[in-house]
Parts: sequence; structure tokens; C-alpha cells
Amino acid sequence: MSATGTGVVLLEAVGHLQSKTRLVGVDLTEAMLARAAAELARRGLRGIDLQLMDAESLSFGDSSFDLVFCAFAFSSFPNKPQAIREFVRVLRPGGRVCVLDSPDWYFDHDARWSWHSELLEAFAGRGIESDVPPPRPGELSNLLVANDLSKLVVAEEAHELTFHDAEEWWRWSWSHGTRLLLDAIPESNRVDFQEAAFAELDKLQSREGTIAATIRATLARADKPR
Ligand SMILES: C[S@@+](CC[C@H](N)C(=O)[O-])C[C@H]1O[C@@H](n2cnc3c(N)ncnc32)[C@H](O)[C@@H]1O
Repeated sequence: MSATGTGVVLLEAVGHLQSKTRLVGVDLTEAMLARAAAELARRGLRGIDLQLMDAESLSFGDSSFDLVFCAFAFSSFPNKPQAIREFVRVLRPGGRVCVLDSPDWYFDHDARWSWHSELLEAFAGRGIESDVPPPRPGELSNLLVANDLSKLVVAEEAHELTFHDAEEWWRWSWSHGTRLLLDAIPESNRVDFQEAAFAELDKLQSREGTIAATIRATLARADKPR
């Protein structure tokens, strides 16, 4: 499991594997692995290997794994071709690579949320640009094919998000990738940003007070020929 983060997908995988299967989670961030380790311990799960490692430079031998799974990290890799090369290298012949990723921020494709980018720009200014280029359309599939993988399957899905109220949306916004955007807002501007955002969220509220958004995800999988 590459870029395993707090272990959300790793933990999901546990229930689908035979007890003797070796499961390894790697991540570049020690704090994320500590969270994953704490959750494994809380659930009494032993024998799952967590290692601090760069997905672009894996320290495993060639053909070590049956499956490489990477969720919601591909977009953030500075050298995407190198990460995919590494996934394929450590995969045994006949093994499978699965990469799950979001093609954009949840507010980018949704007219109800168009104010979000405008507010970020107004409050964060130039700071929201990332050094890492976003993936080009079709880049993930092209890379899998360019590495001689076969049986490419690409599935795109949209998932509805429901926030009970604006406070829940605010906490959620700090709990995942959009934190990067909020962090770019100077601290002295954050309260004003939050107030302006909450005013917009007021207009989005359903009769029950909930707030809806949609998150898009793409899963690409392909097999290494035997
Ligand atoms: C949005 S989180 C997703 C975590 C997890 N896969 C999930 O779906 O919940 C992205 C993770 O990728 C990790 N990451 C980013 N670049 C990485 C790299 N080059 N090598 C390994 N992990 C990386 C980050 O530390 C972070 O934990």
C-alpha cells in the first residue's frame, strides 16, 4: 500500500485478505504512519509492516508484491512517471497495480461551490500555487500503458458528501488535502475567510440544514504480464 497515510485503505484491505498475506504500508510522513500504527494497535492487528519510504524510491526488491495499491496520492507525487515505474518494478509478473485518485478539488467541478476558489484567491493570494504540477488528463492511464501493463480498466465515480453543518465542513476541510489550501491563508486572514465561507454555506443549506458537495474519484488498474 503506497502512500498509506493514516491507513484507511490498508485497514479496509485487511478484511479482504487471507491471514498469511503480507501487508505493507509505506508513507513519506512519519506522523501519518504513527496514526496508522496507533489504529492497527487499537484494533489488535499485528504483523502489518509500516515503513517510512518515498513512493518514488521504494526500497523493496523487484517482483516483491502481488498487488500495489495507491489511494489519493498520485496527484501529489512530484515525479509521477517515477512513482509508476517503481510500482511496476516491485510487482511480480501477473501482479496488479491499482491507483485511486481525485481528478480535481471537490469545489472545482461544482457550480454551487464556485465561490470557494474565489475566496481562496482573495484571502490567500498567490500562496495557493503548488510546486507539484497536477496530473495531465489521461496521464495515469498513459503511464500504466507506457510501463507495459495490460488489461487497463479505468472507472470514474462521483460520491455525494453531506455535511451536517458549516462547522463540520470546516473541520473536514482541515482534515485532508484541502488543508494545504487553508494553510496558505495567512493566519490573520483565516477568521475572515471562515466567516465569508460560512456566509456562502448558508445559501447552500438544505431545509434540514445539511450542505451537499460531490467528490470525484478515478480508479485505474492494470496487470503486469506474466
Ligand atoms: C491524501 S493522503 C491519502 C492517504 C491514504 N492513501 C488514504 O487514502 O487515506 C496522501 C498521503 O500520501 C503521502 N505521500 C505523499 N507523497 C508521498 C511519497 N512520495 N511517498 C510516499 N507517500 C507520500 C502523504 O504523506 C499522505 O499520507
